[in-house]
Amino acid sequence: MDQYIIKGGKPLQGEVVISGAKNAALGILAAAIMTDGTVVVDNLPCVRDIKVLLQAIEQIGAKVERVDCNTVKISGNYIDSVVIDYEFIRKIRASYYLLGALLGKYKRAKVALPGGCNIGSRPIDQHIKGFEALGASVKIEHGMIEASADKLVGSHIYLDVVSVGATINIMLAACMAEGTTILENTAKEPHVVDVANFLNSMGADIKGAGTDIIRIKGVEKLHPTEYSIIPDQIEAGTFMLAAAATKGDVLIKNVIPKHLDAITAKLLEMGATVEELDDAVRVKGPEKLGSTHVKTLPYPGFPTDMQPQTAAALAVSSGTSIVTESIFENRFKYVDELSRMGASIKVEGNSAIIDGVDNLTGAIVRAPDLRAGAALVIAGLVAEGYTQIEQVENIERGYENFEKKLQGLNADIEKISGDDEKAIKKFKFKVG
Ligand code: EPZ
Repeated sequence: MDQYIIKGGKPLQGEVVISGAKNAALGILAAAIMTDGTVVVDNLPCVRDIKVLLQAIEQIGAKVERVDCNTVKISGNYIDSVVIDYEFIRKIRASYYLLGALLGKYKRAKVALPGGCNIGSRPIDQHIKGFEALGASVKIEHGMIEASADKLVGSHIYLDVVSVGATINIMLAACMAEGTTILENTAKEPHVVDVANFLNSMGADIKGAGTDIIRIKGVEKLHPTEYSIIPDQIEAGTFMLAAAATKGDVLIKNVIPKHLDAITAKLLEMGATVEELDDAVRVKGPEKLGSTHVKTLPYPGFPTDMQPQTAAALAVSSGTSIVTESIFENRFKYVDELSRMGASIKVEGNSAIIDGVDNLTGAIVRAPDLRAGAALVIAGLVAEGYTQIEQVENIERGYENFEKKLQGLNADIEKISGDDEKAIKKFKFKVG
């Protein structure tokens, strides 16, 4: 298990380039198998979740050629199975997009049921509701979901919950159904729009993505395409918060500033400055961040995937802040780790009350999940002394070359392998 060692107290300075959006890429790679031809996808983030999904796609027989870490060619005409094993779902839940893609293309699919995860139970009842509305019969047994249909027919579906996953999965299943599907109360995240744009580049007929009503007119077939993934809104937001928290001055390049509006608004409330350029934002942190209140909401509200990182920055702000998590039921696991670094945070139900402290001190902490891990990195960048973060593979699921990008911003961070006794010893005494 690899670890990060961070010596805190240095302002981030310089420029960083944001990678492609992980949560767009996962839906797009699943959609890529829906045509019998070669699809080229580039600006893929080179992260573990993408690697695992490509392994699942290869496992059902599709041809996958990794041109380089950020570019892949997928040919769906070689698929000889519609069964996705539990080993892939266990590693990344989003393998369930193959359910919608295989059902949409072959009218049947069998995918292991995703379990819960660190941030909540994460049911998929709305995905199933959509598939059944399209005429599929769905049965769950032995930990597998099996969906099949003689044919899929367009339907009017109203989602009970705004769900990114269900919106994408139902779009996949509906794009070659007979007739038109109206999907209401849909998620509007940039990555949902990117998947719809990708499907349209393959000849699908999807209108309204990015609003709360999406109309999907079924087409006969989808054709090959070449596509470039949008920049990652959450990776960009993470670097914005890190720049602000470390009193830094960072130019964050290859972003779509509009996607960052909710994050920018909060940073301005906290006293940071944010300069918007065409495809970049420049963030400067003040001597001392001010407190504010945050409530996570579906896009265009404040993203739940930025909640832990923002709480870490507020831990060293002046005053008291309240962070309310309205999307997931258990997304404050990182608070115990931050408290070990001296943060003063009290979790009451789905809110964290944060009393800003003058400083944090380095400690040995563990990354419970992807975004919580990113929050601990921000805390380590700010803390006095050394912080050792264990289980960084959880962080690297969604952040490409994270420590290298931070090193490029003058951060004192390095990655060591957990079994490198010498390296660990070198830092042990420093972490206390
Ligand atoms: C996606 O998860 C993202 N993952 C998550 O990012 C992100 O936090 C989440 O959307 C919200 O923005 C990917 O895109 C791979 P949801 P998803 O369905 O689709 C409930 C990260 O860090 N719900 O929008 O699973 C659910 O329990 C990850 O990159 C149902 O009740 O999220 C939650 O409370 C973490 N029934 C709410 O909806 C369903 O059938 C939103 O979940 C589906 C969801």
